[in-house]
Amino acid sequence: MKKFYIETFGCQMNAHDSEKVVGTLLAKGYDLVSAPESADLVLYNTCSIRDKAEQKVFNRLQQFKREAGKGKVFGVLGCVAQQEGERIFERAPHVSLVCGSASYTRLPELLVRLESGERRVTGLSLDTDETFETPYTRRDNPHRAYITIIEGCNKSCAYCVVPFTRGPERSRTITGILDEARQLVAAGYTEIQLLGQNVNSYRDPSAEGADFATLLRRVGEISGLRRVRFTTSHPRDFVKPIVDAIDENPVLCNHVHLPVQSGSSKVLERMGRLYTRDEYMQRVGWIKSARRPIAISTDIIVGFPGETGRDFDDTLSLLDEVEYDSMFSFKYSPRPNTPATGMADAVEEEEKSRRLTVLQERQRGIQIRRNADRVGLTEEALVEGFNRATGQWIGRTTQNQPLNFIERSGNGESLTGRYVPVRVTRAGPNSLAGEAIEGHIH
Ligand code: 5AD
Ligand code: SF4
Repeated sequence: MKKFYIETFGCQMNAHDSEKVVGTLLAKGYDLVSAPESADLVLYNTCSIRDKAEQKVFNRLQQFKREAGKGKVFGVLGCVAQQEGERIFERAPHVSLVCGSASYTRLPELLVRLESGERRVTGLSLDTDETFETPYTRRDNPHRAYITIIEGCNKSCAYCVVPFTRGPERSRTITGILDEARQLVAAGYTEIQLLGQNVNSYRDPSAEGADFATLLRRVGEISGLRRVRFTTSHPRDFVKPIVDAIDENPVLCNHVHLPVQSGSSKVLERMGRLYTRDEYMQRVGWIKSARRPIAISTDIIVGFPGETGRDFDDTLSLLDEVEYDSMFSFKYSPRPNTPATGMADAVEEEEKSRRLTVLQERQRGIQIRRNADRVGLTEEALVEGFNRATGQWIGRTTQNQPLNFIERSGNGESLTGRYVPVRVTRAGPNSLAGEAIEGHIH
């Protein structure tokens, strides 16, 4: 069982967990292969945030079912593993391993047990104060590195499975985080993204007891680092010192992802979000009064139980008031074990779809206007690659906006991983386009 394949679903936390799992298995002598067909061990790192995400995983498991008879071993990791536990063995009998993210330190041991003949093994305990750390993380991107700062979530939003799938909050020590960040810079990474379900509730477990704003400042001071991002912020724990830190150090990117979920205080209360619309707008006020233009993005759920037409109108007016730079939006999906499942006044599926379309149309208009304002400005792009079809370099601004550009007098050298000043010449709803300013590439 030495060749393994892994497919990852879901968020950046999952993507980074997979990088750690891959690194750990490589260090144990396993080989990573790029297709499930040539693997002895097939792992799916799964997401259960909405029903659709969960269904995708079960569909994938069905796809290769017959291969199990030929000696292939299947494992389910991540949020569906934790949520469904041993029920996965009933739904997909060819699965041999089920392991949630709070048990990844036990993964090598579980695999050894499978190899020694056990038919089924599980790692499902959430009762842990450990975080999953390994010196062997195999990162997918050579320029941007993820660093986990906090795992789990202590909030209890009525719609959300995450507290059940990722367990209680556990913060890493600030020394461990800073050491990892310094090593990454020494290894050539220039962008670091700090990860957690709720980074704002980060608290250094050692005597120093640093909070998130302090951690952010300390990471931003590491010499050689060009960009620091973080995700996700819970508005309740988002404090002004975070904005002050960003404002004072341009290495800390001009972008905050601040999921609002709804513009109606009544719905926010039913969701258990622990803030009102006004309190949310106060946070937005802090961000907007910074000296640098800090982009704001958000997540919105439409059709939460009890959301009336008027509540939905409040969400639309919030979009106009905040003028988000980007938005992720979802139809409410009932999840197992969560308090919202079974709440009265469910919204019809058709009405959810209608609201989603209206919401996305409204936000599209806002983005078209906001992006058009950027035409003529100079923005720095971190180059991610080259698009042969369009002849453009693919980049991203500090505000996390895609910025694709041409280089008029390029000498054929690759710009990937470089920071390039670009004059913005065109704007669409989701991206900017421009031309490299010659002679300033570094
Ligand atoms: N239904 C729909 N969307 C959800 N999200 C979380 N749980 C649900 C659910 N049950 C959305 C939230 C969150 C994002 C990651 O996914 O908007 O911020
Ligand atoms: Fe999906 Fe949430 Fe788990 Fe991330 S933490 S994989 S979004 S369920």
